[in-house]
Amino acid sequence: MTAETARPGSITARAPRLDGEQLLKQLVPPRQFRDASLENYRPDRDYPSQGEAVAAIRGFLDGFKGSGPRGFFGRRKGPAPLPGIYLDGGFGVGKTHLLAALWHAAPGRKYFGTFIEYTALVGALGYATTVQLLTGASLICIDEFELDDPGDTRLMARLLGELAESGTRIAATSNTPPLALGEGRFAAQDFLREIDALAARFLTVRIDGLDFRRRDVAAHAVVVDDVPAVLETFAAIPGQRTLDGFDALLEHLATVHPANYVGVVEGLAAIGLTAVHPFRNQTDALRFVAFVDRLYDAQVAVVADGTPLDAVFPDDMLSGGYRKKYLRAVSRLVSLTSRTPAS
Ligand SMILES: Nc1ncnc2c1ncn2[C@@H]1O[C@H](COP(=O)(O)OP(=O)(O)OP(=O)(O)O)[C@@H](O)[C@H]1O
Ligand SMILES: [Mg+2]
Repeated sequence: MTAETARPGSITARAPRLDGEQLLKQLVPPRQFRDASLENYRPDRDYPSQGEAVAAIRGFLDGFKGSGPRGFFGRRKGPAPLPGIYLDGGFGVGKTHLLAALWHAAPGRKYFGTFIEYTALVGALGYATTVQLLTGASLICIDEFELDDPGDTRLMARLLGELAESGTRIAATSNTPPLALGEGRFAAQDFLREIDALAARFLTVRIDGLDFRRRDVAAHAVVVDDVPAVLETFAAIPGQRTLDGFDALLEHLATVHPANYVGVVEGLAAIGLTAVHPFRNQTDALRFVAFVDRLYDAQVAVVADGTPLDAVFPDDMLSGGYRKKYLRAVSRLVSLTSRTPAS
């Protein structure tokens, strides 16, 4: 019996703690965006902002020309362009695709990570070491920029400020325009100075459109009758399978720092979840969202029974400050539960 045909394991046995070096190595676009380019992004003609976003990114890339190492007199030619570009838009309109395309096309030392990966890096290495490692980079890409709490707000304002001052350019994506970051989540009005300073570094580009993922998948998350049997069909593809009760997964996620969820999903082909039910508290729900993000990056199939995974966030959560995060998770769960061994 090979590892692939063995019985599924349990996700609760996966509790990695990644060190700084391992976290830094992860700072590249996720596998599914390896070939993302501006050429294979197909702007939707019904939404002119998509074509405009491509043009804005090309303009941003032009800003690298003649930058690189500064000349003898420490001066660059022409006026300094804004150091940052900020792609703001709905779910599945291709923000990450465009960010990855920009990363691939940019010269020099560059990093690509989600907001949570950068805050985790600071958590693992400390602020000073993180600045030291990132200083001198030509480009820092931050996917899913969001300000969840006052600590992260100060940290990011300071980190990005310092990097931008030393010549690093910054590109970010978010479901929220920069000046609305933090709204409904914490006393954002106490951090207007930080949020204003962050926003002032970016050229904001709004992208409208339909959820690309929903163009060819089911409208709802798929629920199966027999989780182990469907999970078994994924034995045909490389990677491990796990099978757990929904509550056991949630309990486990509470014991692992979200920065390490990337290690929890590593090498997985599919996970089975039984007895899925609606969330009763926001803490569990937000951890699950962070976990879904990592499953999505790694394109791990989800096989589940119980409540459909697009119906696990109750209305009171969906109408609160984290609404967009939940809706993004729903969009991703519809996609991941629609996966088959052939897709
Ligand atoms: N216009 C497009 N042309 C080609 N591929 C696209 C386009 N828009 C999206 N995609 C593809 O659709 C998938 C979803 O896009 P992507 O993940 O970039 O969206 P997103 O805006 O980052 O979504 P989210 O809000 O979930 O982060 C990706 O595989 C991406 O390559
Ligand atoms: Mg994205």
